[in-house]
Amino acid sequence: MYTIWTLHGPNLNLLGIREPGHYGQSTLLEIDETLKNKANERGAALSTYQRNSESELIELIHQAYEHKVDAIIFNPAAFTHTSIALRDALLAVSIPFVEVHLSNIFAREPFRQHSYFSDIAMGVITGLGAESYYYALNTLINHLNHKQYTQSDLNLGEAASSQAKGAYNHA
Ligand code: DQA
Repeated sequence: MYTIWTLHGPNLNLLGIREPGHYGQSTLLEIDETLKNKANERGAALSTYQRNSESELIELIHQAYEHKVDAIIFNPAAFTHTSIALRDALLAVSIPFVEVHLSNIFAREPFRQHSYFSDIAMGVITGLGAESYYYALNTLINHLNHKQYTQSDLNLGEAASSQAKGAYNHA
């Protein structure tokens, strides 16, 4: 079973009351519950964390490595535009992640249009509200399934080729 973590950055605990014109009406609890249900339906285990401090998010990324987490859904919130330290943490652990944003960061103030994560993310989903998270989840599960199938194809390939070698050596 795959383990996926969702990390939410600062102020996302206020979803529901926070600037609904940008971030919608859903609360973080509603988004997290929906994510967990969708993950369960697809046979994955999902844990969610929200932190307002950069250092705690860094610690969580380190813990994700220790727990052998397969993939991360990450909304770095305002740290998107400032945090080299979080970028370095993700590079250090090499866990595939999708960067998500509820609002369309490219349709907002110029300072939001640069992200320290987009070039190292598997992909970026921005502007689709809570759906941004759900698309990210599906994409990551598809990616992990594909990787597993490819791996088992490779193993089968190796088994078949060593069988063939055995047959050849016999002859
Ligand atoms: C955000 C966009 C960021 O620019 C902002 O600082 C946030 C939320 C989003 O989900 O749209 O806190 O990441």
